[in-house]
Amino acid sequence: MSSTSLKSRASSISEPLRVAVLVSGSGSNLQVLIDAMQAGELPIEIVGVISNREDAYAITRATDADIPVVVLSHVASGKRMGIKTFETHASAQLQDWQPDLIVLAGFMRVLSSNFIHHAIAPMINLHPSLLPAYKGLDTHQRVIQAGERHHGCSIHVVTAELDAGAVLTQALLEVNSKDTADSLQVRVQKLEHQLLPWTILLLAKGVLTLNTDSSDDANYLPALPLTLHIDQ
Ligand code: GRF
Repeated sequence: MSSTSLKSRASSISEPLRVAVLVSGSGSNLQVLIDAMQAGELPIEIVGVISNREDAYAITRATDADIPVVVLSHVASGKRMGIKTFETHASAQLQDWQPDLIVLAGFMRVLSSNFIHHAIAPMINLHPSLLPAYKGLDTHQRVIQAGERHHGCSIHVVTAELDAGAVLTQALLEVNSKDTADSLQVRVQKLEHQLLPWTILLLAKGVLTLNTDSSDDANYLPALPLTLHIDQ
């Protein structure tokens, strides 16, 4: 991870945390952050949104909230934009916005280790499973097929290995006998909408720090992941 960190956050919590959000789809998680920010419930400023899809509804949500949006379409004018080109533009944009934290909220492109290591700010990702179980895609379907009794979502630090960085927080539910992949998606997304702002609040308040590379932080970090218990 970048040497930039949220370590000193506790001493500067009067300033809102500057958050950049990367999206690919509906942006319901982005909306939750916008609503919490506008309600004064989350001490953040969403400094910009990057979408890799020009048809993402998240773009409308950001625009409606007067948040700067940059679309780096993975298929522009019929031509696929390579990940290197995407990352070059995204890096320049993030430099411009100077975020303290980069949030991948339903962002569906795999980023290179070079981009992740040189990112201007720590990066976290929202994943729809109880990591380390069910990395990758189609998590709800795989959970049903495996007959799991529990499922949920995780927020983890982004590292070069897909869905493998330190898990910061999780929220879980019990799988019912009537659940399908579709019903699990709906139920897990409700958890996501609570887990993401809660996690960012912990980061903004300096309760959680993402800088784990110096020894004194070991005493500062609570045992991870923190688990949010939600009645559904
Ligand atoms: C979320 O369910 C997340 O788990 C998955 O993509 C979805 C994004 O939803 N990776 P939204 O775009 O925030 O509505």
